[in-house]
Amino acid sequence: MTSERNDRRIQELRDLIAYHNHLYYDLDQPEISDAEYDVLMDELQRLESENPNGRTEESVTDRVGGTVNPAMGIVSFSPPVLSLNNVHNAEELQEFYTRVTQVTGDESPAFTCELKIDGLSVVIRYQEGRLVQAATRGDGLRGEDVTANVLRIRAIPAVLRQPVSMEIRGEVYMPRSAFIALNARREHEGQGIFANPRNAAAGSLRQLDPEVTASRELSAFFYQIRHAAPRNPALSRITTQYLTLKFFHEVGLPVEEHFRYCETLEDIYNYVDEWERQRDSLDYDIDGLVIKLNDLSKQALIGETQKAPRWAVAYKFAPEEVLTEVLDIEISVGRTGTLTPTAILKPVRVAGTTVSRASLHNEDILRDKDIRIGDFVFIRKAGEIIPEVVRVEKTLRRDNTIPFRFPDRCPACGSAVVRLPEEAAHRCTGGMACSAQLREALIHFASRDAMDIEGLGEKTVDLLLESGFVKRVDDIYRLKEEDLLALPRFGRLSAVKLVQNIESSKSRSLSRLIFALGMRFVGQRAASVLAARFRTMEALQQASYEELVDIPDIGERIATSVITFLSQPSNREVIRNLRDLGVNMNHVEVAGTESPGEKVLEGQSIVVTGTFKILPRKTLELWIAQLGGRVASSVSSRTDLVIVGEKPGSKLEKAQKMNVPIVPEKEFLEQMTKLGITPPL
Ligand code: IVH
Repeated sequence: MTSERNDRRIQELRDLIAYHNHLYYDLDQPEISDAEYDVLMDELQRLESENPNGRTEESVTDRVGGTVNPAMGIVSFSPPVLSLNNVHNAEELQEFYTRVTQVTGDESPAFTCELKIDGLSVVIRYQEGRLVQAATRGDGLRGEDVTANVLRIRAIPAVLRQPVSMEIRGEVYMPRSAFIALNARREHEGQGIFANPRNAAAGSLRQLDPEVTASRELSAFFYQIRHAAPRNPALSRITTQYLTLKFFHEVGLPVEEHFRYCETLEDIYNYVDEWERQRDSLDYDIDGLVIKLNDLSKQALIGETQKAPRWAVAYKFAPEEVLTEVLDIEISVGRTGTLTPTAILKPVRVAGTTVSRASLHNEDILRDKDIRIGDFVFIRKAGEIIPEVVRVEKTLRRDNTIPFRFPDRCPACGSAVVRLPEEAAHRCTGGMACSAQLREALIHFASRDAMDIEGLGEKTVDLLLESGFVKRVDDIYRLKEEDLLALPRFGRLSAVKLVQNIESSKSRSLSRLIFALGMRFVGQRAASVLAARFRTMEALQQASYEELVDIPDIGERIATSVITFLSQPSNREVIRNLRDLGVNMNHVEVAGTESPGEKVLEGQSIVVTGTFKILPRKTLELWIAQLGGRVASSVSSRTDLVIVGEKPGSKLEKAQKMNVPIVPEKEFLEQMTKLGITPPL
């Protein structure tokens, strides 16, 4: 990869990881599995280490994870509550082993191996044997005080069998059986269900009301002493990790029973092999194993990095791959005419969700993998949220299967299908005359971020196409109440409303209209740049390729697409009709400001944090982008402004420390209104 592409990928990964951290740690609502998260993190770590310039002092790879909910009371940790580095195969495990032997000077160090519980990390303090404080790990430096909640978990003793004072670490989890029962109950009661046991555990523990925690079946395992009262004879006898676990058991703390003392690397490999095979045999989720140098004084000698100890690693299990059958290969036609093959699968569960479709992307991928209808294939969800076909299990292939052939006619309209030499995709040449393309184009045109016509969603679009009232995008603006009343499921009220919504969409901004037209590669940002630069649709239609590529942010790809789209007679006709029907084609000037109203935030890097009351956060972010600003995910020295809502997170503190201007949501909206810019309420 070139270094520019590397940099871009690094930024993309950081943003993605920050996003998934937020979902996982703050909202307890992950969209991807831990294995998928690790794939992203590993790629980022690799790119950062290959490209030291790409490292900044604030990379997500250094951080332990989530933030804390200040409403819960905050506990500070010293030393920080660390995470673990990961290894994924025997080779990486051996590298870890060799490093430990080198640093300790011990040729054959012993290890204690444990199961890695997929739960929620907690830190608990016992004083004279009494539980006095419990906290979640939070971001590793500060966690949430969950003492009252933890006291309601039966598996965690409030009083130990010996009056020891120590701070310990463990994992709170929800047994699989309890998770299934809880979700069944919640589904029955019409409440949202938890994605997996880890989330259920986190959601149950991070509660302001301990009664909620008490009503959920949670359990815990403990594995580390973080601090021990000095001169306690019982504690000073604990010189190894193995003895730590034995001691916990003695004093009544729950310990995961399958830990093992391993004298050699061979022993560790055996432990890994055994558990790789039996990982599903327990009533709790494990996502790997933890290999810890046994001798605690040697652990102290080796020390830790900012994020993780050097004396331990997590051996992470490979992402789950599941075998299933390809029932069919379906071709769908997108908004821009791209034909996409999708494998229709016999439904299977993969990494926590049921999968019944997987995109096969394009002909090349399909041909390389030689996927045929009737084949048995392995499915996984690695790196992305989207399931993918890894490979065909050829030994199971039946005799009568035939290689899949891409159609040469569009399955929706019968027009010819072409594949341009420089493209991987096949494209239908039917344009708006293709019902599938028209359908997607209409849905996009009316969508929230485009012309925002409420009530004109997929279902209504389908009805309008079936009835023949709409044959082109501009036909939307010719619809009358009577037409809508003739459609099934339309009453007078909904017909009146939709016609009103269509009418009021005529005054949407030029940038929305440009975006709504659905030119390839022209997203919201490019659309707003084009609107601000050309100011009228007419001027945009007359723009030359050179003028377009001259604009910062408009590359060759976008310029070519704009020129191609606007030179097509059928598209020109649609635009002419839209104009005649009264759709706004001008960039609106804002009274009282010198600068073009829509670009007052040009070049500004803005961070938003907290819960927003006046505008939904997404709307606020889009609006900032429309005003020319860039919404950044984290505060840095380049941040120009931080807009805060209620319950802001650590970003606020960081902004305060770095002296970045901070404005509350309400004040920001007021300032904009003073400039004559109306918020998109
Ligand atoms: S040792 C400095 N042991 O896995 C000690 N962690 O991915 C580091 N975990 O943050 C942790 N089971 O929350 C350790 N037997 C175990 C574990 C375990 C689960 C969690 C822990 C840690 C995460 C790292």
